[in-house]
Amino acid sequence: MKSVLTAVVLLALYIPSSDGYTSWSYTNESEVPYYGLSPPVYPSPAGDGSSSPEWAAAYARAKDLVAQLTLEEKVNTTRGFDGPCVGNSGTVPRLGIESMCFADAPDGIRGQEFVSAFPAGIHVAATFDRQLMSAYGKAFGQEYRGKGINVALGPVAGPLGRVARGGRNWEGLSNDPYLAGAGMGEITRGMQLEGVISTPKHWLLNEQEFRRRPSEDYGEALSSNADDRTIHELYVFPFMNSFKENAGCLMCGYNRVNNSYNCQNSKLLNGILKTELGFEGFVVSDWNAQYAGVATTNAGLDIVMPDGGFWDGNLTEAVNNGSVAMDRVDDMVTRKLATFFYMGQDTNYPEASMFDYDQKHLPVNVQGNHGALIREIGAAGTVLVKNVNNTLPLKNPTFLSIYGYDATVKASPWENPSRYGGGYEVNYGWNTLNGTLITGGGSGSSAPPYVVSPFNAIQQRIARDNGILRWDFYSEQPSPAYVNSDACLVFINAYASESFDRTSLTDDFSDNLVKKVASMCHNTIVIVHSAGIRTVDAWIEHPNVTAVIFGLLPGQESGDSLADVLYGDVSPSGRLPFTVARAESDYGHLLNSTISYAAFPQDNFTEGLYIDYRHFDKYDIAPRFEFGFGLSYTTFSYADLSVSAAGSQQLSALPSPPLSRVPTGGHPALWATLFTVSVSLTNTGDVAAHEVPQLYLGIPSVDGDTPAQQLRGFDRVWLAAGESKTVEFELARRDLSVWDVEAQQWRLRGGTYKMWVGASSRDLRVSGEMEVSVNN
Ligand SMILES: *[C@@H]1O[C@H](CO)[C@@H](O)[C@H](O)[C@H]1NC(C)=O
Ligand SMILES: *[C@@H]1O[C@H](CO)[C@@H](O)[C@H](O)[C@H]1NC(C)=O
Ligand SMILES: *[C@@H]1O[C@H](CO)[C@@H](O)[C@H](O)[C@H]1NC(C)=O
Ligand SMILES: *[C@@H]1O[C@H](CO)[C@@H](O)[C@H](O)[C@H]1NC(C)=O
Ligand SMILES: *[C@@H]1O[C@H](CO)[C@@H](O)[C@H](O)[C@H]1NC(C)=O
Ligand SMILES: *[C@@H]1O[C@H](CO)[C@@H](O)[C@H](O)[C@H]1NC(C)=O
Ligand SMILES: *[C@@H]1O[C@H](CO)[C@@H](O)[C@H](O)[C@H]1NC(C)=O
Ligand SMILES: *[C@@H]1O[C@H](CO)[C@@H](O)[C@H](O)[C@H]1NC(C)=O
Ligand SMILES: *[C@@H]1O[C@H](CO)[C@@H](O)[C@H](O)[C@H]1NC(C)=O
Ligand SMILES: *[C@@H]1O[C@H](CO)[C@@H](O)[C@H](O)[C@H]1NC(C)=O
Repeated sequence: MKSVLTAVVLLALYIPSSDGYTSWSYTNESEVPYYGLSPPVYPSPAGDGSSSPEWAAAYARAKDLVAQLTLEEKVNTTRGFDGPCVGNSGTVPRLGIESMCFADAPDGIRGQEFVSAFPAGIHVAATFDRQLMSAYGKAFGQEYRGKGINVALGPVAGPLGRVARGGRNWEGLSNDPYLAGAGMGEITRGMQLEGVISTPKHWLLNEQEFRRRPSEDYGEALSSNADDRTIHELYVFPFMNSFKENAGCLMCGYNRVNNSYNCQNSKLLNGILKTELGFEGFVVSDWNAQYAGVATTNAGLDIVMPDGGFWDGNLTEAVNNGSVAMDRVDDMVTRKLATFFYMGQDTNYPEASMFDYDQKHLPVNVQGNHGALIREIGAAGTVLVKNVNNTLPLKNPTFLSIYGYDATVKASPWENPSRYGGGYEVNYGWNTLNGTLITGGGSGSSAPPYVVSPFNAIQQRIARDNGILRWDFYSEQPSPAYVNSDACLVFINAYASESFDRTSLTDDFSDNLVKKVASMCHNTIVIVHSAGIRTVDAWIEHPNVTAVIFGLLPGQESGDSLADVLYGDVSPSGRLPFTVARAESDYGHLLNSTISYAAFPQDNFTEGLYIDYRHFDKYDIAPRFEFGFGLSYTTFSYADLSVSAAGSQQLSALPSPPLSRVPTGGHPALWATLFTVSVSLTNTGDVAAHEVPQLYLGIPSVDGDTPAQQLRGFDRVWLAAGESKTVEFELARRDLSVWDVEAQQWRLRGGTYKMWVGASSRDLRVSGEMEVSVNN
């Protein structure tokens, strides 16, 4: 009964919009989707600051202020206005409530001068290093704060990376929710330590670009239909880490979930976000992602961007005629002001200082010394996947040949003029067949102050060593071979961008280039910069291809980061944050985005929990390079896996005690460590290096309902040659639990938990198991 009602409401909410997106008319009843209806969850829970004394104090101040506002003033703060930033919230001059500046992007401030271009999310994930993730967030925070930006639009856990060819997978960290979650938590905490509000995005199931928005030509946006357990264990999971770290804002995406638009999906906003996960902050729409007025208000949207959207003058009217409760509007304003106070932005926060064409003021330089961190993360996220006969590190080469469009900078960094006004785009991801790739395209691109190209960095080393270089950047069939070269380095890339999904994980030009160089050079080293998965089977087994590096998206210090690894200053420890298949078809229906021209396009997440390595494991498909894989210049041995319990008491199946209201991030018991797994790790080679031990867990399965192994711990450990260390992995209740759809809780299953620790998801060196008994 409730479901039927939801469907009716969905159709009734159809209001024509000024941008014409929803201007078609729809009448055919038999096409009304009946699968995946989102259950109604009302009313919208008011934030109250009960998560902590700090939140409570911030809420108290916010409530005092809201009590002094007229309805018109309240409504004014729930929308965007034109201004210096990509988003500028409305103000209340009478009471000194100022505009908050919202700005992109998750890997560097977009479209500005004197800002850094950091490695993209996928590159940071490849470091498997929590400290670097945290330092990354903090450095961002310093830059955002320096520019007077209140709300940073990142980090990204949606898309998670369900679809191999998804256009924005590189903005997020990894398609493994545990790895992504670790990064989301660290980055959010780092940013907010500097007083900048972090905005995990895009909530939720925003897994492809094709038809992510409504279209005039075809109809509604794609509906991602997933079951409750999958939603929790894969897609909500990484966001939880950000909420646990008090993320102040959340962005709802363009797409529909179970046929209800994200920014008006009451189950996702009122239910999962604001009740189950106790979110204290405010929800902002993605730009122009509001598709209804009253419905978005009541479903839990708190501020619309970049303008008045569907609220505009009508929100006041909706309150006056009783469609929207005054309490809801109060909550919308309170959440935003409370977050502003919680972050301390009312004291000593710089005024927004963004680029303008008139150059009325000199841009504030916020780069600090972040170049060094960027170089370190760049090297730490560099993944070596093939290294025959230890061809790397290079051994004092004096003659290198360099091939490929990705070795050098492109002719000009300018893309098109600004989409939003008040700035301009510098997009180093654009038109990459002619230039090295340091980030992807769209609103997640960065504005590099400079780019250290691979060619420049290697040239410096060669000059230092009194050697010579030869190069050919642009030919697909370069000739002749420089027979005296110590090695031939071929640079290729794979671009991806917001707004479209990829149509291939390879390209012929690049594959032909590699094959041509390999045919004439016995020591061919291939470097791939890629905005996501890049398959390599066209040439990976070529006998002359001696080494292959996945350089992912390293940011502005690209060449130096790479040279550090090529020359052995840094032993590679980067690990693939995704699975590289042998054939693209090995990803099955998760290769392509869903292409549908129906009025109500549907994307059923029928694979459930089985994406990426969970899929390869389930169907016993051998990947080319498995999740978590990466080589080192040394060797390690693993021994002595043991488990200890944090307490001796009998464990409850559900988090206890039951709470009527949970703090941000979910029930605190979910985050409590229940067991600690330890292994001893030894560097058995003769090179000091980082190793990335990974813990995979086999949660007890009921009728095969749970993946055989899932990442639930990792570390990046420095070991001198010959050194041994004990590595500990803490397992929190959430990491051991499954989402119980009946109980609507994370349930700890009693039984045998299997565990493996190793150097990748398929290079498991030590194993063990533990019995867990629970009170049901
Ligand atoms: C409505 O849609 C169904 C299913 O696509 C189709 O068979 C039917 O002909 C349509 N009816 C009208 C009146 O267009
Ligand atoms: C989506 O629908 C499935 C059932 O088809 C349900 O399990 C899940 O809770 C729904 N989620 C949302 C957010 O609507
Ligand atoms: C609403 O916000 C705008 C933009 O900041 C501002 O110009 C205007 O004065 C505000 N209106 C009220 C009623 O405070
Ligand atoms: C209010 O909504 C109606 C559509 O329902 C629209 O035509 C009108 O422009 C809106 N008014 C304002 C002030 O936004
Ligand atoms: C109240 O106002 C809103 C906004 O203009 C409108 O969408 C809604 O239909 C109105 N409701 C009633 C009962 O008049
Ligand atoms: C690697 O070393 C082995 C043994 O010395 C040799 O047979 C083989 O040709 C070498 N491979 C390459 C690619 O140099
Ligand atoms: C790259 O630049 C070179 C030199 O300007 C040009 O010849 C070539 O056509 C360009 N290739 C692409 C794919 O844009
Ligand atoms: C993926 O899409 C391409 C078109 O881009 C199509 O040719 C191919 O058959 C699709 N593959 C799968 C496995 O769906
Ligand atoms: C490997 O490179 C050498 C030149 O160094 C060349 O003669 C040989 O044909 C290449 N091998 C293959 C399989 O292309
Ligand atoms: C999605 O699932 C529903 C219910 O099983 C089914 O009727 C519908 O055809 C599916 N849609 C697609 C596009 O597979």
